[in-house]
Amino acid sequence: MADYEILVLPGDGIGPEVTAEGVRLLAAVGERFEHTFRIGEDLVGGAAIDAHGTAIRDETIERARASDAVLWGAVGGPRWDDPTAPVRPEQGLLRIRRELGLWANLRPVVVDPALAASSPLRAELLEDVDLLVVRELTSGAYFGRPQERRIADGRREAVDTIYYNEEEVGRVARLGFELARGRRGRLHSIDKANVLESSRLWREVVHEVRVGYPDVEYSDMLVDAAAMHLIRRPSDFDVVIASNLFGDILTDEASMLAGSLGMLPSASLGERSSDGTGLGMYEPIHGSAPDIAGEGVANPLAMFLCVGMLLRHSLGLDREADAVEAAVANALASGRRTADIAGPGDDALGTREMADAVIGSLGPE
Ligand code: IPM
Ligand code: MG
Repeated sequence: MADYEILVLPGDGIGPEVTAEGVRLLAAVGERFEHTFRIGEDLVGGAAIDAHGTAIRDETIERARASDAVLWGAVGGPRWDDPTAPVRPEQGLLRIRRELGLWANLRPVVVDPALAASSPLRAELLEDVDLLVVRELTSGAYFGRPQERRIADGRREAVDTIYYNEEEVGRVARLGFELARGRRGRLHSIDKANVLESSRLWREVVHEVRVGYPDVEYSDMLVDAAAMHLIRRPSDFDVVIASNLFGDILTDEASMLAGSLGMLPSASLGERSSDGTGLGMYEPIHGSAPDIAGEGVANPLAMFLCVGMLLRHSLGLDREADAVEAAVANALASGRRTADIAGPGDDALGTREMADAVIGSLGPE
């Protein structure tokens, strides 16, 4: 019996719909395993811009820091899309990642055999796909300075900066090797070392770290080749480490293996305590999906898998996480489908009905 503090930041679009189901799932887990999850909630993204003029308030960041874990919905939408606006919803996301020091973004891609048919790839390519991308999350092209627009020689120009230092690369590399050890023992490091200086440093540092992990089978891969390999032989990959920008791009691509963006969770983690747990933020990959917001049809499973990752990585509750993952797999195995993963002839369930199916199969202890 334990007490945990969870900060829920629903955001925009389908964010509030899926986080509401995530909170119901947490309550069900609490009941079954006798934990108390105390839930706080706050505005972020466009909703916070409308209410407070900023995409995330300082006090929200402080509340997050004081919590055991953060559950994040999604931010953004057409109302706040003007690229010249001084405040944008995504700023809230980038700021909380950076200020909480959540430098490791874990994005697992597993193909549930029940869903192989909803992937645009042929089913035989998807056999044994089980990969984990570790994306660096608090540096690189997203945070390097200068990042600005300016006028030079009478014309508009813009600059972004890809910055990495050896500590930032080294910790991602060590985490990648450790995770590979606990899995199939393979690591691919993605870079563009044939062109970018920051990638040459990345590769050099990863090679230094690699010396400590002779048991892990290691390969470097250029990002363009990796984009191709992910489609051609996705089952070759086990753990993949990548910079912030390359990891962002490759994980959207990899999500197509799983059939739908609506299936994929992610965990953003910082430094861990000696028992392996620590503050983390858990966020579905799917984004705010404004086109279906408010219709009650969004797939809640990515959020449910986020709850599973939260239980495991921030709270150290492995048994509870296993139960959540098994309940999701059960719902899929028994043919439950939301619209994004429904095949021809499947009856598509709404968000609430799919959530009920999963929560119902959590069952009594
Ligand atoms: C993601 C998203 C974000 C990112 C956007 C919304 C800023 O694409 O989490 O992958 O680029 O990191
Ligand atoms: Mg992305």
